[in-house]
Amino acid sequence: MKLEGTVALVTGANRGLGKALVAALVEAGAARVYAAARDTEKLSVADPRVVPVPLDITRPDQIADAARRAGDVTLLINNAGALSSYNLLASSQVDLEADFRTNVHGTLAVIKAFLPVLERATGGATVVNVLSLTSLASFPALGGYSASKAAAYSVTQALRPELRARRIELLAVLPGPIDTDMVKALQMPKSSPADAARGVLAGIARGEEEIFPDPMAQQMGALWMGSPKEFERAFASF
Ligand SMILES: NC(=O)c1ccc[n+]([C@@H]2O[C@H](COP(=O)([O-])OP(=O)(O)OC[C@H]3O[C@@H](n4cnc5c(N)ncnc54)[C@H](OP(=O)(O)O)[C@@H]3O)[C@@H](O)[C@H]2O)c1
Repeated sequence: MKLEGTVALVTGANRGLGKALVAALVEAGAARVYAAARDTEKLSVADPRVVPVPLDITRPDQIADAARRAGDVTLLINNAGALSSYNLLASSQVDLEADFRTNVHGTLAVIKAFLPVLERATGGATVVNVLSLTSLASFPALGGYSASKAAAYSVTQALRPELRARRIELLAVLPGPIDTDMVKALQMPKSSPADAARGVLAGIARGEEEIFPDPMAQQMGALWMGSPKEFERAFASF
């Protein structure tokens, strides 16, 4: 799809990858970018094309309100995500449910609420779900989070034909580690949010169903395509 002139909405836009996606969309010539965040005071809105929208993706009232405010969106980027649960045996039910509530149910609820908006787009529309390499095989140290991201990938696959029938493309982003608050405790090479955001937009422009936006994701994505079992073993050994 063409990014120039697009009207996008990015969830979780106040920090990390979401903030970098807003900046990259502006740089790519988007006509308007709705920057959605739980606390809009935390948004940096340096460009007049950036429009703040209050949105907690676990709150049905706020989701409905966001779909009303941003009624001209043609590119919906579901970036907001939570990492509350770690090793499965050590994680509490509360933390597991928190990851599923945001990463699975929240993402699905946003897509459903924006369907009428996206269907109105004359040239077709695109939804992008920011998932993770852990959607493809579990990273056991993040077993609960991985399970939620795998479920979100399944949701993405299930919705893809349903949305296509409504002229809406659904793309999945499967990043490796990015240098954001979410993984600040993990000691491993990480991409910068700006580089990862540029990789995401390049994949959207090419219309890739699976976008591997950073070098580690590209390397691991090739391994996954060649041998899912080897990919699983590689992740389990980290
Ligand atoms: N960092 C990585 O290595 C990595 C790798 C693969 C995939 N990802 C995915 O990339 C996406 C962005 O993560 P990040 O690395 O930028 O993490 P981050 O720095 O922790 O940012 C997470 C963002 O999601 C928002 N958020 C969380 N729960 C929300 C909710 N219920 N409603 C609305 N917004 C909510 C946060 O808002 P608040 O500021 O209000 O908390 C924040 O803006 C996530 O989907 C994550 O799973 C990250």
